[in-house]
Amino acid sequence: MKTEIIKIDRERFEESELAKAAEYLKDGKLVAFPTETVYGLGANAFDTTAAARIYAAKGRPSDNPLIVHIADVNALGELAGEVPETAYRLAEALWPGPLTMILKKSEKVPKTTTGGLDTVAVRMPSDEIASALIRMSGVYVAAPSANLSGRPSTTKAEHVIEDLNGKIDMIVDGGATEIGLESTIVDLTGEVPLILRPGYITAEMLAEVLGEVRFDEALLTHSPSEPIVARAPGMKYRHYAPKAPLYIIEGKSEDVVRYINAAAVKNAAEGKITGILATEETSHLYKGGMVFCVGEREDGNTIASALFDTLRGFDETGANVIYSESLADNPLGTAIMNRLLKAAGYHIIHVNSKEEVI
Ligand code: TXA
Ligand code: MG
Repeated sequence: MKTEIIKIDRERFEESELAKAAEYLKDGKLVAFPTETVYGLGANAFDTTAAARIYAAKGRPSDNPLIVHIADVNALGELAGEVPETAYRLAEALWPGPLTMILKKSEKVPKTTTGGLDTVAVRMPSDEIASALIRMSGVYVAAPSANLSGRPSTTKAEHVIEDLNGKIDMIVDGGATEIGLESTIVDLTGEVPLILRPGYITAEMLAEVLGEVRFDEALLTHSPSEPIVARAPGMKYRHYAPKAPLYIIEGKSEDVVRYINAAAVKNAAEGKITGILATEETSHLYKGGMVFCVGEREDGNTIASALFDTLRGFDETGANVIYSESLADNPLGTAIMNRLLKAAGYHIIHVNSKEEVI
């Protein structure tokens, strides 16, 4: 299949430039498009054949449900069997934006889209290209992140081309996405709202609107071997992974730098290339290896927008092993570390001043 690519200048685009992409969505075709979080791989959410094609293109397990994207709050009534008052409050305060709500689904939403569940995930993106495209298509748009299953989510059209060229009908290239991490997911089907995936919308922001909100227990354990089942099916898979194994090195900054430098020397002696995911504060301290800087330690916005691009970048360096500093010390630390831990398969090495390199 030939994948058409349409470039849109988000500073000054005419809606007519999106007409073909909108037509494609209405016709059951697959169109990747930018949102404020990451690129989505869209298809008509009510067309089971189109939704099934999303799973095939991504190589995604069919029990991992898709988020349904809307351009108008009124869609909630059609997609959800019951719309709790909390959903309207959240919509009023935080939509359009990087927030996904889980609600009981209506009869109309096919189970192919919800991965067999009786609930549906709904999000109204704020990105102007996404919003115009959804509205013009006249359909609700099921869209997972536009990456191959298991790979880091895509924050640039180049990443989408890398993963999905030849497998989908069209890519709308609107440049780099603003936030760089996927939406916060909050489940409103239980008594207390539960955060299933942390994101740019923090627990504090949700609590301000909802009063009480909790994290899904599966997010609080640092080990995938714990017998707690993630309520967002997608959270149980190894994810965001670069090709080489990734280790998070925790400890005092000077100990972390010393450990990684020693490991790079040892790896080089064994003929292995070391990738290092560093911050502005430390990147000049590394003596060997391929050093990528994701931003200042306290600047969560910059780190979030650079993270997936950086993880993908290591693949091109031929790195055999990657070490990352902890990136928790900023307001988006919970969301960033959630992705980094998954990318690392939860491998953390705690170092102190006496640590030997393993
Ligand atoms: O920012 C985002 O949310 C991006 C953009 C494209 O909007 N989309 C995205 O979709 O990240 P995806 O498919 O990569 O992640 C959706 C997550 C998965 O972990 C999935 O299991 C969960 O949402 N999910 C979807 N429907 C659900 C449901 N009914 N109940 C629980 N979790 C659900
Ligand atoms: Mg995804």
